[in-house]
Amino acid sequence: MATREELDLIRERVDAVAVLSRYLALKRSGKNYMAICPFHPDKRPSMVLDPEKKLFHCFGCGEGGDIFKFLMKIERLSFQEAVERLGRETGVELARRGPGSPLARLYELNERVADYFQKNLQDEPGTAARRYLLERGITAESCERFRLGYALPGWDSLLRRFGRTEEDQRLLSQLGLVVQAREGGYYDRFRDRLIFPLADPQGRVIGFAGRLLREREGDPKYLNIANTPLFTKGEALFALHLARQAKGSATYAELILVEGYLDAISLHQAGFTNAVATMGTALTEQQAQLLRRYAERVVLAYDRDAAGEAASLRGMRALRNAGLEVLVALLPSEEDPDSLIREGGAAAFQAVREQALPFHKFYVAHLAAQAPDRDPLRVERLLAEAGSFIEGIASRPLRHELIRGLAEAFGLAEEEVELEVARQRRPAQAQPGPRARAARPGGPAAPWGPEEHLLYFLIQGDLSLDQARQELEPRDFTRYPRLIEAIFAQQGDGPLRPERLLEVLEEADQRTVTELALSQVEFTDRERAIRDALAALRLPRLERELRELKQKLLEAEEHGEREVAQRLLAEQRERQGLLRSLRKGVIEGQRR
Ligand code: UTP
Ligand code: MN
Repeated sequence: MATREELDLIRERVDAVAVLSRYLALKRSGKNYMAICPFHPDKRPSMVLDPEKKLFHCFGCGEGGDIFKFLMKIERLSFQEAVERLGRETGVELARRGPGSPLARLYELNERVADYFQKNLQDEPGTAARRYLLERGITAESCERFRLGYALPGWDSLLRRFGRTEEDQRLLSQLGLVVQAREGGYYDRFRDRLIFPLADPQGRVIGFAGRLLREREGDPKYLNIANTPLFTKGEALFALHLARQAKGSATYAELILVEGYLDAISLHQAGFTNAVATMGTALTEQQAQLLRRYAERVVLAYDRDAAGEAASLRGMRALRNAGLEVLVALLPSEEDPDSLIREGGAAAFQAVREQALPFHKFYVAHLAAQAPDRDPLRVERLLAEAGSFIEGIASRPLRHELIRGLAEAFGLAEEEVELEVARQRRPAQAQPGPRARAARPGGPAAPWGPEEHLLYFLIQGDLSLDQARQELEPRDFTRYPRLIEAIFAQQGDGPLRPERLLEVLEEADQRTVTELALSQVEFTDRERAIRDALAALRLPRLERELRELKQKLLEAEEHGEREVAQRLLAEQRERQGLLRSLRKGVIEGQRR
């Protein structure tokens, strides 16, 4: 871990505008910059960057943080890695101490294991595997590029090589490379299989998959690792790191999405270096978001029958909802991209690519094909199905396009189809999207209460930590308990340092901080607004204390404790005076 001083130095030296410009088109807006948010499908620029505070916040999706966070999100780095990268850039040398982080050790081991599998393939025991690849038309160059490998047939080849100590065995097991045996100990997961390393967008090896060379009774053709600290099923995309390097310009890039490892490899080999594979599973929302980060358009090239499956259709919808243009390539039946290219070369795939249908046309054609004679009962069932599908599409023009297409396909009036869609609407379903109380940049945020206002003044530096601590207690706040705790625990009495605060907070609280840090609210009288916010927060506690005081006073009088009663009475008068002035402030503040 970097030291406090190292972090501060990087923050001080880094040019936040330069870093963000590598990924976004920044437009100046007052003292800040605006950009289309890369973390959600954004139409207008919703992301704000404050070049001085070096914080970003998206007022559309709520994502926000400091410059380290930005790099972590956009490049999928760990905090440590983001710090290392910016350290290099800003010339801040990070002192090296101790062994690497636990994750770094796992990455490092995966790397060595990938080398080992690769070497197996090239050596004598890999002869049959090499022959298999040759027969499938995979070149030596592709083997090198994709780092294809071979797992030896024994039960413990890898285990003996990398698992000498118990600690090493535990690491192998964490990586999914060995499996715990029922009678204790471990054995190799991959035996006599062709190996496909899986990488993250940066090219680091996060896992492996293995394919049988010939059918084996009771064994699946492909074996994948389960979730590990480095690999989550449904989040990774095979060959994305290679497609990324190949794609060149950052915008309007197209990616081809296929199902199989060998489909992706074949495509790369045929010159379609923008192919990535989902690895058999249905496309998830995380994968859609990931693709959105690197592409504007996705062309799906699934098997004919697989493309029309409900899971695939939902995947296409997720891509579309992520803001991607979606095209569906219609492969000849019984073919996958790999077999197509083997038979007809790159040209055969190119032809299919050129005839790819926009998603809405594909969807309409797919449904229409299921009721060629427009049998009313079938049409009715298909419409109900389409209704709930269309309901889940975020884009209004696209929804309309689909409704129009379906009406035409089934010979119905658009209103009829529209009605069906409306009927499928699930009222209780909350739309994922901007938080309800998200503020608009530049405008006063209507739903803010006293807590948000007070936090705003603190984070903006209008109110010192010292004053806040004097007048308020953590229990005066109810909405942000962890954030308040962290603020009261901050060192020093001066202004709050949001960047320090971000280090100790969880995501949701980080977002609140960046939202408040980058909101611009106009006040006719800022000083007054600060006093009002303080008063509004103190009021409930003072009122409670006053009630307690009255109760005590009553008891003291009942028991004839005159001196105590006198003291309580004086205290009560003082409190009442304070309360009156506080209430007055609050009311006038609200009237504004
Ligand atoms: P397929 O089984 O459709 O591919 O699996 P294929 O074209 O017949 O296989 P090859 O070309 O002979 O190798 C497509 C993808 O689905 C996943 C793998 O990612 C595979 O590449 N899959 C398939 C599995 O994960 N497990 C399996 O048992 C089968
Ligand atoms: Mn295949």
